[in-house]
Amino acid sequence: MEKPNIVLGVTGGIACYKALELVRLLVQDSCDVRVVMTRAAAEFVTPLSFQTLSGSPVATDLFSLTQESEIGHINLADRADLMVVAPATANVIARLAAGIADDLLTTVVLATRAPVLVVPSMNVHMLEHPLVQANLAKLRNAGYHVMEAASGYLACGYEGKGRLPEPQAIVEEARRLLRPRDLTDERIVVTAGPSREPLDPVRFFSNRSSGKMGYALARAAARRGAQVTLVSGPTALSAPEGVRTVPVVTAEEMREAVLAEFDSATAVFMAAAVADYRPRSAAGTKMKRNGKAIRLEFVPNPDIVAELGARKRQQIVVGFAAETESLMENARAKLHRKNLDLLVANDVTQEGSGFDVDTNAVTLLDRDGTATPLPVMSKDAVADRIHDWFLQYKNQSRRRGA
Ligand code: CTP
Repeated sequence: MEKPNIVLGVTGGIACYKALELVRLLVQDSCDVRVVMTRAAAEFVTPLSFQTLSGSPVATDLFSLTQESEIGHINLADRADLMVVAPATANVIARLAAGIADDLLTTVVLATRAPVLVVPSMNVHMLEHPLVQANLAKLRNAGYHVMEAASGYLACGYEGKGRLPEPQAIVEEARRLLRPRDLTDERIVVTAGPSREPLDPVRFFSNRSSGKMGYALARAAARRGAQVTLVSGPTALSAPEGVRTVPVVTAEEMREAVLAEFDSATAVFMAAAVADYRPRSAAGTKMKRNGKAIRLEFVPNPDIVAELGARKRQQIVVGFAAETESLMENARAKLHRKNLDLLVANDVTQEGSGFDVDTNAVTLLDRDGTATPLPVMSKDAVADRIHDWFLQYKNQSRRRGA
């Protein structure tokens, strides 16, 4: 879905202010966002703030003649690809559970045929109340997706469950619900991050890979229904939901973890920046300064993806190439040398591309010699484009084999 339509219902809890950040992130993630606020929500945050961030008029009133002619509750309900209610108070949860439609927000939720994501946020004791829990169960039974509230310090002064999950986590959940589950037959291995090659117990050689591209691939695959194992070198990223994460440090450890999964995998996406060399031996104790120059010897690491390319049977093996010069020439040579099905090439010197940024500009290069350059886009969007390519390639191969 290029630009999904999200209708965001905001109800009157203190976490309303976080819904502003949610709108900003959704817009940044290329969603068209229409906000519907309850009267209580408008006491916490002004509609103007939501209007400015979403770039669209905010609807607040079912009985406003202007709003109804300009926006219209059925129009809102019909245009939604996904309806999100965040924050959802105990009150709106109860009204939704009872099928009540006594304001614009509840009317739109009842009228929409789109999936509905409810994100509760309230005081811990309210959330634990059996009536609230029964209402949430009712919503789940009616097919609504209810996100777990987060735990921590609550605005009311209590510690416990009831916080609105981080806006980024809500975006993730929204994206997951919007995606077709078209990878349910796949067992996918993704590698991510750098490898770290120790020199002594406190020092290592590594590279600038943040792991963001690999994590985006793992998240996108899981969202689309694949069974995903993420073999990750050391990164600062948190493990994605619904993915089995195997932490590794060195190239050798990464090789072992990937080979253990390879036979049962349908595809491997080798996004990790594996060190090509490691120090010949790592000192057992910290190397001491002696004021003199030192000479280190490096030995080659195994080329993991080349090994997969040589072994593969039905598996599809995708490699990545970060280049600083002669992008297409180097990438083509790599694709054939390593016997890959696809190479995702990027020129890391280009703006909006490369290490530790959230965007990437890549070219997809396949065995037929077709090069598909993609514009600068979020790593999440790149990940989905790579999975789209993968599905198309699989279908083509199936047709050729048939
Ligand atoms: N790769 C690997 N094992 C290595 C080095 C790289 O599996 N020891 C994989 C990477 O994960 C990536 C692909 O090979 O998918 C290309 O990595 P890159 O470093 O660009 O390729 P190299 O073969 O190391 O080429 P060079 O460093 O000479 O550009």
